[in-house]
Amino acid sequence: MKEKLEAIKAAAREALNSSSTEHDIEELRVKFLGKKGELTAILKQMGSLSPEERPQMGQMVNEAKQKLEALIADKKAEMQKKATELKLKSEAIDITMPAKKISVGGLHPINTVINDMIELFQSMGFDVVDGPEVETDHYNFECLNVPADHPARDMQDTFYLAENLLLRTQTSAAQIRTMETRKPPIRVICPGRVFRADEVDATHSPVFHQLEGLVVDKGITMCDLKGVLEQFAHEIYGSDTKVRFRPSFFPFTEPSVEVDVSCSECGGKGCRVCKGEGWIEILGAGMVHPNVLKCCGIDPEEYSGFAFGIGIDRITTTRYKISDIRLLFENDQRFLEQF
Ligand code: PHE
Repeated sequence: MKEKLEAIKAAAREALNSSSTEHDIEELRVKFLGKKGELTAILKQMGSLSPEERPQMGQMVNEAKQKLEALIADKKAEMQKKATELKLKSEAIDITMPAKKISVGGLHPINTVINDMIELFQSMGFDVVDGPEVETDHYNFECLNVPADHPARDMQDTFYLAENLLLRTQTSAAQIRTMETRKPPIRVICPGRVFRADEVDATHSPVFHQLEGLVVDKGITMCDLKGVLEQFAHEIYGSDTKVRFRPSFFPFTEPSVEVDVSCSECGGKGCRVCKGEGWIEILGAGMVHPNVLKCCGIDPEEYSGFAFGIGIDRITTTRYKISDIRLLFENDQRFLEQF
């Protein structure tokens, strides 16, 4: 029995040395010390020994048991320590490494310009209204004094979605929606996206932005229109900017004007930005046509008004000296980060 005990002790030691995981050790513990383990089995055989041999043998077995338990505990502790060290090493943070650059988003230059324009017009008492980008023929053309088959429809190449449904070609559609729901005095602006089937180039895009303005009240004249738009141009381009009103035509205004500002790049001498003209066209405007007022249920004998449509993209490109309108729509971060 002694030899058997020695053999078990040797086997246990060897197994312990070759075990490399906590799982191995647990298996080993069960194999030798468990209820059905080898050392436990030896203890159970003690009955077959003589009464003299029994205490001696019992002591030896118990010592072997205690020693093995201690060895197992040590080995477990050692493994846990190693595991912790490994974990700490793998999770270590090298505080001397250069930091990752976090790029913070910003406003698109078009949004900055829109926000500035909204603030400016609000300070003059205008409300901001919104309109849908998908419009009906009625709001985009009919009620704006552009009946079907009118040649003025050629001025705006339109994306039709269905018989009477289209992508709005102008924010002017918001004028009609406003006059249908509000009674004069009316003073509103409507910034937004508009769509025309234009060929893309440095100055044209099938999607662009306008800011519509509408004022309707008793006794509104062309003087009011000039005053508001001159004020706008001076706030946006600087007070020494010259403003020019040219006669023009829009079906929904009479009389109609186009408004130019002196080129801020060359001061009016003529350069690449203004294409040698010295002037940059920024908006169309005019006195609201009586037919438009009538269509919205407003009596043109009692009320008059003016409207304007500002090209936001043009204001943005001239303000930031952007040479190609396409840059505004490509969303190249290297470009946008400059603003
Ligand atoms: N809607 C016109 C355009 O897109 C601009 C405009 C608006 C002209 C309001 C006059 C009055 O060209």
